[in-house]
Amino acid sequence: MSVITIFPQMIEQYLASSVMGRATKRELLEVTVLDLRSFTDDPHRSIDDAPYGGGPGMLMMAEPMLRALSDPRVVAPVIGLSPIGKTFDQVDARALSSLAGFTLVCGRYEGFDARIEERCDRLLSIGDFVLAGGELAALVVIEATARLLEGVLGNETSAKDESFADDLLLEYPQYTRPREIDGAAVPEVLLSGDHGEVDRWRYAQRLVRTMQHRPDLIERRGGISEKEVEILH
Ligand code: ADE
Repeated sequence: MSVITIFPQMIEQYLASSVMGRATKRELLEVTVLDLRSFTDDPHRSIDDAPYGGGPGMLMMAEPMLRALSDPRVVAPVIGLSPIGKTFDQVDARALSSLAGFTLVCGRYEGFDARIEERCDRLLSIGDFVLAGGELAALVVIEATARLLEGVLGNETSAKDESFADDLLLEYPQYTRPREIDGAAVPEVLLSGDHGEVDRWRYAQRLVRTMQHRPDLIERRGGISEKEVEILH
C-alpha cells in the first residue's frame, strides 16, 4: 500500500515499531510513503492555501496532491482520510486486507480542496471527532488491516477469535494466573476442563457483554436468535 502525507516520518517511524515493524521486516507488509512536498513546483514547496470565499484556516491545495496521485507508486483504490468519510470498521479492515494494494491520502489543515475529495475512490473517517490531520487515521487503518494479513500476528487464530469477527459480537472475558486476586476468582467453568461447557459459557459472555456495552451491534446483526436465547439460560 502507499501513503501520501506531508509528515512521512510519522508513518515511517510507526511502521518501524512493534508488530508493524516485524511485518515490514519480514516483507509481509509493504508500505510506500510519498512525501507530498516532493510534488510541489514552487520554491516554498507550498501545499496549503486560503479558501476561496473566505473562512478560517488553510486548505490542502489540489495540484500537488493530484500530481502525487498520478505517481506510478499510487495503487487504486485511493482512500482519503477525512471526518466526512464513512466510519471505518472491522468489515472495512477485512475488505482492505484482501486487496492487492490501496493508497491512503492524509490531509492537514482545515481540510482538502474539494477536487482532492472528488479524485478519491472513497473517504474513510476513524470516528466522529476531528484530528489535526489524517496521519493518525491512516495508521489506524494500516494497523487494523495489516494485522489481518497472513503471518503478521503470531497466532493465526487470534485475528479470527475476537470482537466483531464475523457475528458482530464482542470478545468474551479472559483470565490468566493467578486463580484469585483479593477474592476476585477465575470463573469455575474455565477450570473444569470441559471444552463444550467452556465454549458455551464464552458464547453466552459474548452475548451478554454486547447487550450491555454495544446494544447498537445487537441491532445491526438483527437481534438474538432463539438458539442464542437458549445459551443465555
Ligand atoms: N482527519 C481529521 N479527522 C479525521 C477523522 N476523524 N478520520 C479520518 N481522518 C481525519
